[in-house]
Formats: sequence, C-alpha cells, structure tokens
Amino acid sequence: MTDTPETLRVGILGAGSIFGAYARGLGMVDHLPIVRVADLDQERARAGARKWDIPAWGDADALLADPDVDIVVNITQPAFHAELTEAALRAGKHVYVEKPLAATTAKARENLAVAAETGRVLGCAPDTFLGSAAQTARAAVDSGLIGRPFAATSFVRSSRVETWHQDPSFLFRDGGGPVLDWGPYHLAALVNLLGPVSHVVGVTDRAAEQIVVTAPERRVDRIDVEVDTHASALLKFASGAVVTAMYSFDVWDTTLPHLEIYGTGGTLHLPDPNTFDGPVLVRRRGDEDWSEVPPVMPRVTPDPPTPFRALGVADLAAHLGGEPHRASGEFAYHVLEVLSALEDRDIADGVTEITSTTERPAPVTQRP
Ligand SMILES: NC(=O)c1ccc[n+]([C@@H]2O[C@H](COP(=O)([O-])OP(=O)(O)OC[C@H]3O[C@@H](n4cnc5c(N)ncnc54)[C@H](O)[C@@H]3O)[C@@H](O)[C@H]2O)c1
Repeated sequence: MTDTPETLRVGILGAGSIFGAYARGLGMVDHLPIVRVADLDQERARAGARKWDIPAWGDADALLADPDVDIVVNITQPAFHAELTEAALRAGKHVYVEKPLAATTAKARENLAVAAETGRVLGCAPDTFLGSAAQTARAAVDSGLIGRPFAATSFVRSSRVETWHQDPSFLFRDGGGPVLDWGPYHLAALVNLLGPVSHVVGVTDRAAEQIVVTAPERRVDRIDVEVDTHASALLKFASGAVVTAMYSFDVWDTTLPHLEIYGTGGTLHLPDPNTFDGPVLVRRRGDEDWSEVPPVMPRVTPDPPTPFRALGVADLAAHLGGEPHRASGEFAYHVLEVLSALEDRDIADGVTEITSTTERPAPVTQRP
C-alpha cells in the first residue's frame, strides 16, 4: 500500500464500533501487521482478536508493555484519547489516534509536547482526505480549474448514530457532538484544499435534551444530551476564503451538498468527506452542465464499499524519520482548535481568532 518496506507492528487500543474498519484496512497493508488488541472489556478484545486473527489480546497496560508493538492505534472514545495517547508515547510507541485528537485543546497541546519530548510520532484521524475524492479536488484547486477559491459550504446532517451504534453516549458528551465528531472530516478536507483558518464565529444550540437509542443491539436506551448538537458558523481562512458551515445531529436530512468550493472560475462539488472515494464534479463559468473531474488515482476503498481505515496509519508509518506527514498531530491540532472555538457558542461571543496554523499537507500523487 505504501513504498515503505519496513515492517511496523500495530497494537490497537479499543475494540469497539470502528475497530473492524481498522482491522480490515490494516489487514490490507502487509507491512503493518496487527499484533495485539486491547479493550477494557476483555471479552470484546478476545472476540476481536479471534475474528481478525490477531495473535495477542488483553488490557491497555499489557499492550503498552508489549515490546512487539511499534505503533499504537488509539481508537477509544474521545474522553480517553489524551490520557492513553500520552501513556503510549511515554511507553515508547508511535501513536495514531482517532479524531478528535483530544477532548480539549489543552490536552491536545500536552500530547504534542509529550510527542516532542519522547521523539515519538503522533498522527490523528481523519485520513479520509488522503482518499481519491479529496486528492482529486486538491489537484483541481491547485491547477486553477475553478480559479481563486473564495468561499465554500460545509454541511453535516445527523449520522443517525442512535439507529446503529450500540452505545453512542460519548457522542452526546464533551469531546463528541457534531462539531467535534463530524467536523474533523470537513475541516481536514477544507484545510487540505484552502490552507489554515484564521477566524471563526458561530452559534450553537441543541434541539433535544434526550436521545432515544433504537439501534437493534443497543446497550443503552436513552442518552442525556450534554453538548450542543447544532452549530451554524462562518470560518474565515488565512487565504481570504470564507466557509459557511452547519454541523448538526438535529437536522435529520437535507438536500444541501456536503462540501462545495466556490472559485472565481467555477464550482467544485465533493462527495461526503467522511468517505475516501466518489465523484468530484465541476461546473465552470460557461459550462453547459456539471462534469466529473478525472480522478487522480483509483478508488482506495474496497469495492463494494465496506468500512475501512488504514491510510493515516500507513502515512504515519512512512514518515517516522521526522519529515512532515499528512494526518499529523499538528494538522489535527489546528483542526481541533478551530472546531473547539465553535463549541457552546452564542453570536454575542463574537469572533475568535485562531492562534495555531498548519501547512497544507503534501498532495498524494499516487494510490497509497
Ligand atoms: N463508530 C464509528 O463509526 C466511528 C467512525 C469513525 C471514527 N470513530 C472514532 O473512533 C473512536 C471510537 O469510536 P467507537 O464508535 O469505536 O467507540 P466505542 O465506544 O464503540 O468503542 C471504544 C472502545 O474503547 C474501549 N476503551 C475505552 N477506554 C479504554 C481503555 N482504557 N483501555 C482499553 N480499551 C478502552 C471501550 O471499552 C470500547 O470498546 C472515537 O474517537 C470515534 O470518534 C468512530
């Protein structure tokens, strides 16, 4: 999948809902074997190990103490990200953590400091912007296909998580909500296309105080909503571009596009940024109709599509020598700072200046 020949052994921390996507994705990368899985729920870890043919399983302490683990993939709930990431870095492991990098920017900053102190590499989801759709859009923007991008729209509707996740409680607590749960897919895609954000303003609210869980194999029936579940915002980018965003668990459906980029010469229409592949459409001034931008690489996900994660871990594994990697801790920190500035907002709070910045990651020029 990458041109890195060195074998690096992966330990996965957390055998919950997204675990299978990592097991499947990493199972397609020869040089990144999964050697251990850990979970608080020992039975979950054991079942995951058995299903995906992983030789060792146990708890987090055993995983961190295992000298056979080079890279820890931390896919626990957001509230536990920072603590477990720090422990793994201090245990000498490189870490790739699911989004958000941490539940708060303060904790995320501590993680970046520990990575620097220990000389270990910290990467973070999402990695969907490394897929064929986002990279095709990136090449289109960089080639000037739509002229100068001056604006964009970015819309998240409910993922209806209560209808399929066994226990989505964490998504309605600090570190969850549509802004921190789905926002990272959109922000990573936007920052990859347009560069860093300089200012944000927004309003947040919640449409319900309780969520009824209807997932067939649910472990909870009701969830108290502890975070705002609807956000409307404007994001000003350092380039001058302005993005109109709506991130919502409360909007059940909409015909609004997921992501569109408006340039002086035309419009680019992207698929859901929580997917790797899909058509990128363009309509330039004067075009009769929309047309598909020729993809810069073949699809990266299995066909037919099945839940899949691996590109970010492979990207980290290919850049352990200190050179910048794409789904990096620094990039994810900028995304988190922008999104955190939108949490629990009122219009009277005014404009927030974003203090961090980040480089646009290098484009991906071939199928990983
Ligand atoms: N579920 C999805 O479709 C999905 C998709 C993309 C990203 N994510 C992200 O992945 C992360 C996990 O989400 P999920 O839906 O799989 O959550 P989940 O609740 O289904 O699973 C998390 C697992 O981590 C385990 N865990 C927690 N603390 C631990 C510890 N100290 N040691 C060992 N195990 C521990 C829990 O027991 C649980 O099994 C989140 O950051 C989420 O945003 C989830």
